[in-house]
Amino acid sequence: MINIKLYGHNYDYDVHELVKLFYSSEEIELVDEKTLAKNQSLLIENWLICKDDKYSVETIVTREDSCISSSVIDDVSLIDIKEDNFNKKIKIGIKQSIYKALSKITDINVPWGILTGIRPTKIVHDLYDKGYDRKTIYNVLINEYFLNKEKADLIIDIANRERKYIYPVNENKFSLYISIPFCPTRCLYCSFPSNSLDRWGHMVDEYTDKLIYEIDMVSKLLRNKELNTVYIGGGTPTAIPKENLDKIIKKLYQAFGKDEFNEFTVEAGRPDTINKDMLMMLKENKVHRISINPQTMNDATLSLIGRKHKTDEIITAYNLAKEIGFDSINMDVIVGLPEEGKEEIVRTMEEIMKLSPENLTVHTMAIKRASKLKESIDEFSLTKQAVIEEMLDITKSYAKEMGMVPYYMYRQKQILGNYENIGYSIPGKECIYNMLIMEEKETIIALGAGGISKIFFPNENRLERVPNVKNLQFYIDRVDEMVDRKRKFFVGE
Ligand SMILES: C[S@@+](CC[C@H](N)C(=O)[O-])C[C@H]1O[C@@H](n2cnc3c(N)ncnc32)[C@H](O)[C@@H]1O
Ligand code: SF4
Repeated sequence: MINIKLYGHNYDYDVHELVKLFYSSEEIELVDEKTLAKNQSLLIENWLICKDDKYSVETIVTREDSCISSSVIDDVSLIDIKEDNFNKKIKIGIKQSIYKALSKITDINVPWGILTGIRPTKIVHDLYDKGYDRKTIYNVLINEYFLNKEKADLIIDIANRERKYIYPVNENKFSLYISIPFCPTRCLYCSFPSNSLDRWGHMVDEYTDKLIYEIDMVSKLLRNKELNTVYIGGGTPTAIPKENLDKIIKKLYQAFGKDEFNEFTVEAGRPDTINKDMLMMLKENKVHRISINPQTMNDATLSLIGRKHKTDEIITAYNLAKEIGFDSINMDVIVGLPEEGKEEIVRTMEEIMKLSPENLTVHTMAIKRASKLKESIDEFSLTKQAVIEEMLDITKSYAKEMGMVPYYMYRQKQILGNYENIGYSIPGKECIYNMLIMEEKETIIALGAGGISKIFFPNENRLERVPNVKNLQFYIDRVDEMVDRKRKFFVGE
């Protein structure tokens, strides 16, 4: 048990998230005098002190009543993040002080430094927007946020690639996400909205009708806006019958008055949901991009994670999609799946390289609270941080060999070894929707159960989240309310 005591501020959440990077498997608790545990393994105390208008931060780490580490940030105003926001400097000073104190006593690699958020590239865009150059931004990332050099270069490179797709910001544009929360079965690691067809298949028709209703109603609210990209995700959109998906897509074209979208992605995902008829239907409906996701190219792991398909099926589905003419195919893999190490990732990448997809998304395993894996975590051996790092390096080399560059990235909570998810692409084949959702500079309207719309107000640089309910039955019963939740933002335009 690790106890944390804060004095003079209440950045509880930020401090907790930072300490978790160093001690991912320990219980961490913020305490006051009364709740201080007798048997804590470590006590981290942190003070924000104001003296003569100067703010400083001090951290002391104690084990069994002896101080084992400490650190001081003498003057918070000197933190050079190229922003005048003093509260932000205070928060960064607190995190810097704790980071420095913990770095002295652990050998954990913290590649993203004091950054605990999901979208580190946003910092780079903000600094570019203010007119700073690459060198200055790099120095801020290294000296103030404590990123390692490789990660600093990575996010600057990605931001540079993204800028032509996300700028200029246009208040009138929006993209569309359509949620199909059904899957053939639930994978061990997954916490996405997904209802297994075995159990919930009887609700697919009713869901389709309500989704079509929501598309119809919301499209009317958006008449004066310009539709940019469309993404159908899940779950596994191709898990539902071809006829249902076809009806949904035809409704999209009709409701938004288009005969082709700027970019249209369907996350087909599981190879066991892909056949010739399904692919032909998608092609005829002018779908530009699809995903066929291996996660791993090792049959033993596929069985362990409950994917219920074999590597052969991935190869067959991929070749079929190529024959039908798809020229933009993404493949998702996960690094750090249970019982996998370097040998397995090499096999996965060798097989993927033979197929040569246009996009590859490399996820680092995250132990999600709502997953089956979290419940049964003791039954599996998880990959160590140093091995994860080597495995990620392997994926990076293969991506390079396939002619790909990293073009978007994000981090997740509970991700193994403090790493990240990276989308690679052959230049020119990037998925614009993926960049838009990460950088949050365009409104995304999300329809269907579990969809979370994000409405962007560029003048205030503000985002408002408008969630739909996740539960299928609630969605079916309350679809009018889901429309109303969005109506208030667009009526009168
Ligand atoms: C919405 S999911 C689903 C796509 C599709 N249903 C499939 O399974 O192929 C998108 C991707 O997130 C990744 N993913 C899901 N859960 C994860 C986890 N716990 N850790 C790391 N990656 C995860 C997987 O690579 C998955 O393909
Ligand atoms: S990984 Fe894909 S197929 Fe598996 S449960 Fe999650 S959404 Fe469904």
